[in-house]
Amino acid sequence: MPAQPTGQYITTSVAGESVEAFVPDSLPPRLAATDLATLDGPLRAAEAALARLDLAGEMIPSLDWFIYAFVRKEALLSSEIEGTQATLVDVLAWEQADQAGDSRIEDIEEVTNYVAAVNHAFAQIRAPKGVPLSVRLLNDCHRLLMEGVRGAGKQPGELRRSQNWIGGSRPGNAVFVPPPPERVAALLGDLERYIHGEDALAPLLRVGLVHVQFETIHPYLDGNGRLGRMLIALLLDHWGLLRSPLLYLSLYLKQNQAAYYRWLSAIRTEGDWIGWLRFFLDGVAEIAEDATRTARSLYARVSEDRQVLLATPGTTVTAIQLFERLPEHPVITMPLVTRLLETTKPTAGKAIDVLLRAGILAEVGARKRDRLYRYRDYLRLLD
Ligand SMILES: Nc1ncnc2c1ncn2[C@@H]1O[C@H](COP(=O)(O)OP(=O)(O)OP(=O)(O)O)[C@@H](O)[C@H]1O
Ligand SMILES: [Mg+2]
Repeated sequence: MPAQPTGQYITTSVAGESVEAFVPDSLPPRLAATDLATLDGPLRAAEAALARLDLAGEMIPSLDWFIYAFVRKEALLSSEIEGTQATLVDVLAWEQADQAGDSRIEDIEEVTNYVAAVNHAFAQIRAPKGVPLSVRLLNDCHRLLMEGVRGAGKQPGELRRSQNWIGGSRPGNAVFVPPPPERVAALLGDLERYIHGEDALAPLLRVGLVHVQFETIHPYLDGNGRLGRMLIALLLDHWGLLRSPLLYLSLYLKQNQAAYYRWLSAIRTEGDWIGWLRFFLDGVAEIAEDATRTARSLYARVSEDRQVLLATPGTTVTAIQLFERLPEHPVITMPLVTRLLETTKPTAGKAIDVLLRAGILAEVGARKRDRLYRYRDYLRLLD
């Protein structure tokens, strides 16, 4: 029995086998003030790191690429196991050129799907008539996240209608059996109300609670990890802690996966929310600091290169215009440049030459047609 119960087990039957499914209590859990007090230090540190990141965010030359960079780092961590990996340049090249047939495509799509889903969610939440943070929005994001990648066949965008389990070959020997399917909608409804309701608890702690509750409900057949991690970014915005999706906690959760999974279980089996919250806060602080450093160095890089370009003999107005577009398009081709700047091939070619001479652009590989150029030092910082 847990020291403090955080839900109840109910017996259900799956394929003729009787299993104990866990139904978590609604948030918030009862947390003792003395236990919460032990989180004061880590909480303040994490909040301060987020505030610094929020400020540094204004310096970021391109939000999308910043997010891509973090998502890709995580994709790299997981794909090392699977033996494939997408480099940032692969992702970039894929974005603008048709690279169908590339074996790394699924890795790349998982990266681009996250950016598409998180951008969709922020756009909806910001729009006066957009979908608010809700189960409906989560379903929409789930569909975007799962498009064409692992789990795509498992009812994307839909709450599960069958019993699932985590770890083990069948529910009977699983590490964890989430709530029965007929309880999922109501549990998510409760969670939605908690997200929009009042609680005296510090909002950052509430983010940590909601993430775990979401994983415990495990509402989808697959992709619960991916969506639950994205939910963290949406909640940080919702509670005014970070105005754009600059914090990508997935990296931390994947680097510390064993501990992460242990905490998810410990909450259920021992009622140990405090241990999880501490682990969560440490991750927020660590990732926020890392992201702040990256944001600052990107800004410094672009400022310095702008000076270099202005001092480069023979620089042109088009070269300067192209340079200003590079943070959004750090990998370019001649056709892309003529399109972006609505200019002719010779003018675009001249601009590319100037940027090559200034050492800002470098050629990727040695293609004869549609040569690829990258904004070298900028990509190095992101990589
Ligand atoms: N013991 C556990 N109790 C509750 N949740 C768990 C437990 N172990 C893992 N999880 C959660 O389940 C997620 C995996 O679920 P699922 O396969 O549906 O998601 P995914 O997005 O496909 O996977 P991944 O997180 O590996 O990218 C993990 O990321 C974690 O958040
Ligand atoms: Mg999965």
